[in-house]
Amino acid sequence: MEISLTKIGKDIKNYRLEAGMSQEDLSLICGIDRGQLSRIESGEVLGVTYLTIEKILNSLGRTIEYVEIEKKKEIVNLKPFVKWAGGKTQLLSVIEKNMPKEFNTYFEPFVGGGALLFKLQPQKFYINDLNEELILVYKCFETDSLFNALKKELIKHENNHSEDYYYKIREEDRYELFKTYPIYVRAARVVYLNKACFNGLYRVNKSGYFNVPFGKKKTIKCFDRENFEEIRKFFKTHKPIITNSDFETAVKDAKKGDFIYFDPPYDVLDNKKTFTSYDKDSFTKNDQIRLANLFKDLSKKGVYLMLSNHNTSFICELYKDFNIKVIPAKRMINSKADKRGDVEEVLITNYE
Ligand SMILES: C[S@@+](CC[C@H](N)C(=O)[O-])C[C@H]1O[C@@H](n2cnc3c(N)ncnc32)[C@H](O)[C@@H]1O
Repeated sequence: MEISLTKIGKDIKNYRLEAGMSQEDLSLICGIDRGQLSRIESGEVLGVTYLTIEKILNSLGRTIEYVEIEKKKEIVNLKPFVKWAGGKTQLLSVIEKNMPKEFNTYFEPFVGGGALLFKLQPQKFYINDLNEELILVYKCFETDSLFNALKKELIKHENNHSEDYYYKIREEDRYELFKTYPIYVRAARVVYLNKACFNGLYRVNKSGYFNVPFGKKKTIKCFDRENFEEIRKFFKTHKPIITNSDFETAVKDAKKGDFIYFDPPYDVLDNKKTFTSYDKDSFTKNDQIRLANLFKDLSKKGVYLMLSNHNTSFICELYKDFNIKVIPAKRMINSKADKRGDVEEVLITNYE
């Protein structure tokens, strides 16, 4: 929702002057670009959200009742557009309760289906995943032309859906020219396969080819129209940084006061097979160690950190210097129904 009252801009300017701050000071504190701040103060508020206004007011220690009311109306529920192994939808309330009260930029280097991202809808955010095909879907929410092309392609998949069609589309990543396909085509393929495959699993073989069998559904709804439009609006106003790299590279810009939520592939439970191969190179014990070392370095820099994993002795040992909370969880994605049982997870933070 856009702001119609230019009075808010004047109020912000007055509050800032009363606080003895320059625009530059305020921009540094609230993390909003100085140019944008200046436009807001002079009443140019096209495309500015109430959440942004609230952030500025918070930095000045002020509230405006009208802004509070409008901000509440502005938050719409967004949902992940794919079902993803390790998705955090069921743990969201525990995660939210354990978040830092305030932070600047949000980083999610293992974004997967983005359950927490869509719940939080942060102002400024970086998202990343090593899975190139998945990240192409996020990229399609960046521009109207990609977004419209993605929707058209998804509707085509819905209309053509059948077992033969599924296997024909699944086959495409074996083609030599696959990586040269338009990104909306590859993005639509991932979403379609996710909806039409067995149990919404993303799994590739040793050569990196998607190999989940057909899910036997007669008809497919590839996307929730309303949710898609809302995600597009959210990305349009927030302009996220979207990357496809290893987690270490993905958080290199994190600074003191930022918040990173790490949700890596799970450590293997003792005596159990855990799903860890989202990509052809699965996440090894060495990767877990590399992540724990990064966690320690970032903690020294003053970045707020939260990490989820299984409650294994290996993970608890790696993070023994931090706060560890044990939480019960249910594993939803497993090819065998009897293995979708209860497991313990840990939520690790570097703050109280
Ligand atoms: C547990 S899932 C994240 C689930 C996500 N929080 C959600 O709600 O759907 C882990 C993700 O890490 C990604 N991944 C695996 N290795 C990675 C790496 N080295 N760097 C970044 N991402 C990686 C996988 O592709 C997968 O999407």
